[in-house]
Amino acid sequence: MQKQDRPVAFFDSGLGGLSVLRETVRLLPQENYLYYGDSLHAPYGVKSEAQIQTLSLAAAEHLVNAGAKAIVVACNTATSAAIGLLRQVYPDIPVIGTEPALKPAVEKYPGGRILVMATPMTIRQEKFQALKRQFDDRAQIIGLPCEGLMEFVERGELRGSAVEAYLEEKLAPYLREPVDVIVLGCTHYPFLTGAIRRVVGPGPEIMDGSHGVAMQLERKLAQSGMLRKSGEPGTAVFENSLDEPEILALSRALFQYRDE
Ligand code: DGL
Repeated sequence: MQKQDRPVAFFDSGLGGLSVLRETVRLLPQENYLYYGDSLHAPYGVKSEAQIQTLSLAAAEHLVNAGAKAIVVACNTATSAAIGLLRQVYPDIPVIGTEPALKPAVEKYPGGRILVMATPMTIRQEKFQALKRQFDDRAQIIGLPCEGLMEFVERGELRGSAVEAYLEEKLAPYLREPVDVIVLGCTHYPFLTGAIRRVVGPGPEIMDGSHGVAMQLERKLAQSGMLRKSGEPGTAVFENSLDEPEILALSRALFQYRDE
């Protein structure tokens, strides 16, 4: 196998990272992909930093043993808790993280009101707080921890009264004044874009970080001479720590899913 043919390996606490994978495949269709969802240990967003680091190291080790030429941490929570550690342990391959798309949101809506939906862990972490401080004088940024929201996606429940009631309760207090952007700071949430749109109405733009991750991956692969340039479309292999065929079927379905 040529070195460029080795897979780009993604991991997430479950199925959320598939939102990053589908965007990456759009940008880099010729790469081979391996996706590992750690649904057995989901959610990460309410665990301690040490627990998330242990789980992230185990996922990365599995992917490197499977021949990964690069690792995409397709999870904001694992990125905020473990990206530094992962880069220390794997200095020889690109390790790309995912973070809330605050920068593009502030650049597009200077002075705007920006809601960032993410896991409690991501909002609490210094990484997010530092990012927020960087832009605090240029926009009104509100971090909104959404404990319990990723579970809807893990169940494949992307619409319906239960998820919309959750969103209504969570978002209503912030919708009394106009919101310019809702940043989806958890990779599970893009699968709920339609449900979020129904709750917030047509006003706010909904943004996520997946395109930025795909572009960063392309840059890093090109720099290390690992970009697969041939015109042949690559393959995508799905794995999950839950040993159940249903979870792999749901992974494939989400990978194909188009919302709104
Ligand atoms: N998909 C994950 C993220 O981007 C987290 C979900 C969870 O495990 O709590 O933050």
